[in-house]
Amino acid sequence: MYTPVAEKPQETAIQEYALSQDMPVKVRKQRHLLLPAMLTILAFILIVSGSVWKGELAAPALTKASSTVNTLPAPQPPTGPEVPNALNMGMAGAPTSLTALHGPTTAAHVKQFTLTAQAAQIQLGSGVSIPAWTFNGSAPGPTLRVQQGDLVVVTVVNHLSFGVTIHWHGINVPNMEDGVAGVTQDAIKPGRSYVYHFIASDPGTYWYHSHQFSYDETTGGLYGTIIVDPATPTTHDDVDYNVALHDWNATNNQTLFAIDSTTGTLNKAARPGQWVRLRIVNSASSQHLVTLLGAPFQVAALDGHDVNGPQMLSETPLPIGAAQRYDLRFQMPTHGPVTLVTSADNQHYQATPAVVIGQGNVPATLPAVSQQWFDLTTYGLPKADPINLQSHFAASYDIKLGMEMGDSLGRQGMVYTFNGKVFPNTGMIMVQEGQIIRLHLDNTTDLVHPIHLHGHTFTVLTHNGKPLTGSPIHLDTINIQPHNSYDIAFLANNPGIWMLHCHNLLHANWGMDMMIMYNISTPYTVGTASGNFPD
Ligand code: C2O
Ligand code: CU
Repeated sequence: MYTPVAEKPQETAIQEYALSQDMPVKVRKQRHLLLPAMLTILAFILIVSGSVWKGELAAPALTKASSTVNTLPAPQPPTGPEVPNALNMGMAGAPTSLTALHGPTTAAHVKQFTLTAQAAQIQLGSGVSIPAWTFNGSAPGPTLRVQQGDLVVVTVVNHLSFGVTIHWHGINVPNMEDGVAGVTQDAIKPGRSYVYHFIASDPGTYWYHSHQFSYDETTGGLYGTIIVDPATPTTHDDVDYNVALHDWNATNNQTLFAIDSTTGTLNKAARPGQWVRLRIVNSASSQHLVTLLGAPFQVAALDGHDVNGPQMLSETPLPIGAAQRYDLRFQMPTHGPVTLVTSADNQHYQATPAVVIGQGNVPATLPAVSQQWFDLTTYGLPKADPINLQSHFAASYDIKLGMEMGDSLGRQGMVYTFNGKVFPNTGMIMVQEGQIIRLHLDNTTDLVHPIHLHGHTFTVLTHNGKPLTGSPIHLDTINIQPHNSYDIAFLANNPGIWMLHCHNLLHANWGMDMMIMYNISTPYTVGTASGNFPD
C-alpha cells in the first residue's frame, strides 16, 4: 500500500490521503454570497414598501455576520470517495511495533506538566481579539522549561470538540512520543487525556504543536515553546527570553503577524552591560525576516544546536524559516534598548510587532533591510563533525520539491510535491539503524520550503553544491529558498516511522510529506475510520 521511494508505486493500491483545509473557506465563500443576496432582497423590500422595516430586517443579518467572527470553525475531516478509510503507514509484519518504542516512566529527575487544550479569545493588542485554540488558555501555550537529562512527563487534557496531539518539534523522542496522529498514536479525543514521556537529552530551544490537522490546529494556536537547559552551560547569560513569531488567520481572510500574542510592542527588562539570550521560535507557516537593532549580536544556536565560534553581526537580516529557532546573544549597551524588528516586504523594517529589551522605544527611524542576509553556510568557525562529506553514506536520495495544479484527496488545487508526487504517493525512504543517509533536497519552485525531519538531527553538507565553510550546522528544519538546493545527512539512530515534510503546513496539507521508515509496524491508521489526519 505504501511504497518505497525507489520502487514504482502501484497505482491501483494507493489511496489518496485525506485533508480538510478547504472546508472553512467554502463556508465563508457561501456566506459572502449570502450577504449580498440578502442586501438585494432588503433593498427590494425597502423600495417596494418605502417603510421603516430596515432596522428589523438588518438586525438578524448583522447578528449572523458577527457570530461567524467569534467562532473558529473546527477542523473538518474530509469526505468523499478519495479519502482513505484506514491507511496504515507502517511495515506490516515487522518484528517490532512502535508501541514498544516509548519513553521511560521513571527517572531520578522528573518534570511534570499539564497542558489543557481549550478554546479562548486571544487579545492581540491594539484592541484586536481573535478566537483561538490554546494550551492552558494562552497562545503561545506555556513555555516548558526543563533541565538536560530530565524525564519530561506531559499530560495533555483535551477540552476541545475535536482531536489533538502534541509533537515535540526538534526533540528526538522515542517514536511513540512523537505525536503524529494516525502514525504514532490516535488523536486524543474530546474529553480524554494522554501522557507523553521522554528524556530531554539535548539542550536547546524547541517547540511543541499539535500534529492532528497540523495546519489548522497549529495556526489556530495549539503551540508553545520548550527549552532544555544544558547540564553544563557553554555561555553565561544574565537574562534569557523567548518569543514566538506567529501568523494568525484573521476572520476577514487576512493574516495578522504577532510576536507572542501582540501585534504591537513587547517590552523585556535588561540592564546595561548584561548578556541577553533571546530565543526566537517561528511557529508560523511562512519565513520571517528579523534583525536586532542597538547592539551587535551572535547567532549562538540554530534549531537548539550551538554554532561553533559565532561571530558578531550588526543589523544582519535573519531569515527564520517556518518551525526554525534562532538563539541570539548580545550585551546590553550603556544607553538605550536593543530592539527585535521584523520586515514584511524584505525591504524595510516595520515598527510593529517588535520586542524592546531594556529602557526605551522602537527607534523612530528604521534602517532599510540589507541585501546581505545571514548565511548559515559561512557563519562561525569550522570544527570536526562526525557527519561530513567524507562519511560513508549507506544511501543517497534525490528529492525534488515541486508544485503544480493537481489533486490532493479529491480536492483540486495547487499541490506541493516530492519528486512530482503527492503524499501518500511520495513513498518512503527505508533506513536501518546505524546507517548514515544523505538527502539532496532541490527546490524547483518560486516558494520557500522549510523541510523538517522528525526524530533526528541532521547535518548540513552543501548549499547549491558548495560545502559549508563555517561552523558545522545541525538542524531539524532546513529553510530552502526558491531554486536553491541542499545536501543534508543524518545518522539513523532512532527506530520508528518518521515524517519528512514541509513546515509550511499548508504545503504539508496539500501533499509535501513522506516517511523515513525503519522496519517497524504501527497499529494506528490515518483516515476516516480513526479520524486521524496528521496534517
Ligand atoms: Cu513541527 Cu511534523 O512537525
Ligand atoms: Cu513547502
